[in-house]
Amino acid sequence: MTQIKTQLDVDAEGVLTFLQITDTHLFAKPDGELLGVNTRDSFLAVMAKVLEQAHPIQGVLATGDISQDHTPESYSLFAQHINQLGQPCFWLPGNHDFQPAMLTEFASAGISGAKQLVSEYWQVILLDTQVLGVPHGRLSEEQLGQLQSALDEYPDKHALVLLHHHVQPAGCKWLDQHGLKNADELFVLLKQYPQVKALLCGHIHQQLDQQFEQLRLLATPSTCIQFKPHCDDFTLDELGPGWRYLALLPNGEIDTKVYRLADGSFAGDAKATGY
Ligand SMILES: [Fe+2]
Repeated sequence: MTQIKTQLDVDAEGVLTFLQITDTHLFAKPDGELLGVNTRDSFLAVMAKVLEQAHPIQGVLATGDISQDHTPESYSLFAQHINQLGQPCFWLPGNHDFQPAMLTEFASAGISGAKQLVSEYWQVILLDTQVLGVPHGRLSEEQLGQLQSALDEYPDKHALVLLHHHVQPAGCKWLDQHGLKNADELFVLLKQYPQVKALLCGHIHQQLDQQFEQLRLLATPSTCIQFKPHCDDFTLDELGPGWRYLALLPNGEIDTKVYRLADGSFAGDAKATGY
């Protein structure tokens, strides 16, 4: 199966700019809560701030765990608010998602199913790491094959690869067992493609920016609960919900910044021991 591909224009400086929104964990019910946080309220508070910022973007990247209850309503709620930004949204699934509802609702809201975004200097490839019923991730042979053909197709373009799961330990023992299980296979493949500059994920509900060999590894806060970095056991953080902007520059560099709502807002139940 070949990837659905789309073309994206760059801005006047040749830059391709995105907003990343991740791990919204939405419910159909307006009062749906995850560890004491109303995930609809926190998502809407983030979207209000994003609209206020009016940062110029050419697309939105949604990196999974959009729904917590698998309902069509949770996906259509997401689509309805993302569509207010007036830019195309592209998505991949997380461990919590229910792809049949996600596909249907997003398609009917006009959200693209494209997994290969091609522009003048860059391509962005969105991968599916979901393993049904478990929190960890894995890239199937098919996904690895699709990644390889996308990279073979445009050897002269820089590449950004998106996936839900983290590929290197984030430093939280409880969370690191739920990472991408076959990251080694991914790294072996990527070694042959120096044009891949960065991997961008969600899943860990915290901000990360680290270098691993040729790759910049980026992770972005959730729009709801935050996991505290460097904790062996499950611990919530008091940092506010977050989102990220990325500017892909013609020379292969990435300018990126994470924004958050105020610390302590939507902080959740400090006594929670898991989710
Ligand atoms: Fe999540």
